Amino acid sequence: MATKDYSKYFVAPDLKQAKRRGKEETQVLQFEPIPEDMRQIGRDKRYLLMTYGCQMNVHDSENIAGMLEQMGYTATDREQEADVILLNTCAVRENAEDKVFGTIGRLKQLKLENPELILGVCGCMSQEEAVVHRLLQSYPYVDLIFGTHNIHRLPHLLKNALYSKEMVVEVWSKEGDVVENMPKVRSDGLRAWVNIMYGCDKFCTYCIVPYTRGKERSRRPEDVLREIRELARQGYQEVTLLGQNVNAYGKDFKDINYLFADLMDDVRKIGIPRVRFTTSHPRDFDDHLIEVLAKRGNLVEHIHLPVQSGSSEILKRMARKYTREQYLELVRKIKQAIPDVSLTTDIIVGFPGETEEQFAETLSLVKEVEYDSAYTFIYSPREGTPAAKMEDDIPMEVKKERLLRLNEVVNEIARRKNEAFRGQVVEVLVEGESKKNAEVLSGRTRTNKLVNFRGPKELIGKMVSVQITEPQTWTLNGVWLKESSVRVGV
Ligand code: 5AD
Ligand code: SF4
Repeated sequence: MATKDYSKYFVAPDLKQAKRRGKEETQVLQFEPIPEDMRQIGRDKRYLLMTYGCQMNVHDSENIAGMLEQMGYTATDREQEADVILLNTCAVRENAEDKVFGTIGRLKQLKLENPELILGVCGCMSQEEAVVHRLLQSYPYVDLIFGTHNIHRLPHLLKNALYSKEMVVEVWSKEGDVVENMPKVRSDGLRAWVNIMYGCDKFCTYCIVPYTRGKERSRRPEDVLREIRELARQGYQEVTLLGQNVNAYGKDFKDINYLFADLMDDVRKIGIPRVRFTTSHPRDFDDHLIEVLAKRGNLVEHIHLPVQSGSSEILKRMARKYTREQYLELVRKIKQAIPDVSLTTDIIVGFPGETEEQFAETLSLVKEVEYDSAYTFIYSPREGTPAAKMEDDIPMEVKKERLLRLNEVVNEIARRKNEAFRGQVVEVLVEGESKKNAEVLSGRTRTNKLVNFRGPKELIGKMVSVQITEPQTWTLNGVWLKESSVRVGV
């Protein structure tokens, strides 16, 4: 930790510190209940949380909301009536950061109109030195900055911000602990995120996450299993196990030999209908895990397996620690064990120096694997990462054009794969009304495909059978089969 002198209200991040991994063992701490005198702070007040980025951030926001609500605050989605606005930010690409700075700039007006408003920035951007300096210099009306390792300190930090005239900054660069039993406000009673580990030790050369989220720390299996059993008891239908690199789960335990496959095998025995996980690193994806996933049951047939590039040379420079051939071999093994598996991926185009031939290898890999969908990105240099210092002679125009070409291939395959569902009956967990049309219900298959269909609102929260009549590129339209009890593993 940079320093623990809370009286100063100023602990700034340091990227070099963040890179130094502590050898000391992770400690499991219990969240300290919010003191009685702080539980009234938010009475008759409202909070607004703006969440950017990945599921990890979405889940952190559930913890943040949990703490704010224990302090008496209630949620609002209207900026004008908020007493506290917190931006939970993402640092993974520059455009995500630009959006956040744009929003902070826009909120200046609100702050002028309502000087009592507390404006805070948390999440991955606040772990970056350069961001904190920029906020201090150009956005002095921000009241509070805190990092990803000290979220549990929010009640105290917010109290300080309310009573202090200075900007309150507390960002610990060195993590260490796992905090259990944080309060949570989950977004629906249907699907829940469950953290299984924090941080990432992979240090892919383009990625800022190992700096902003710290070293890999796994939650104890008994804590994870207890949380999932409790969610099952409360009637949740689906859990998604979260980690930056879930396949490294358990590697940091010194006293027990218990890895991700062991955890999945135990979660399989819990009576919750669907279990997902994200995100996987191909390098640590072992045969035991494939064997466990092939047992199915509540373990769904969907694996998000980021490849990043189809060129072994680029993968080497990305420090992904696998080759194109090794990745394809892993895919082959997965498909052999789970023939109807749905594979999705993340791909970066325009990594420094990526040649046309190397890009073509990505296209050919996508065609060979036949992903159900892919998140595709143009490489974005992140200050402090090794790739940011690599020479890059590829013009942005070329990168943009490659992204378009890649998306065309990805979409064409997605459409073709969806077309195969025409006439099939799939099991859908109904999430709610469709965003586009309140007359239509939408939900997801086990493989995470979005399905739209017409039916009574009572179906929301239930598992139903839907026959697909109109497959599209990103969604499947179908008809609800009222009497059907057909269950297929899709
Ligand atoms: N530029 C572009 N994309 C990135 N990602 C991570 N870092 C960068 C970067 N610097 C992508 C990777 C990762 C996903 C979450 O974001 O594809 O899997
Ligand atoms: Fe970033 Fe690589 Fe870790 Fe994923 S595995 S969070 S891409 S460093």
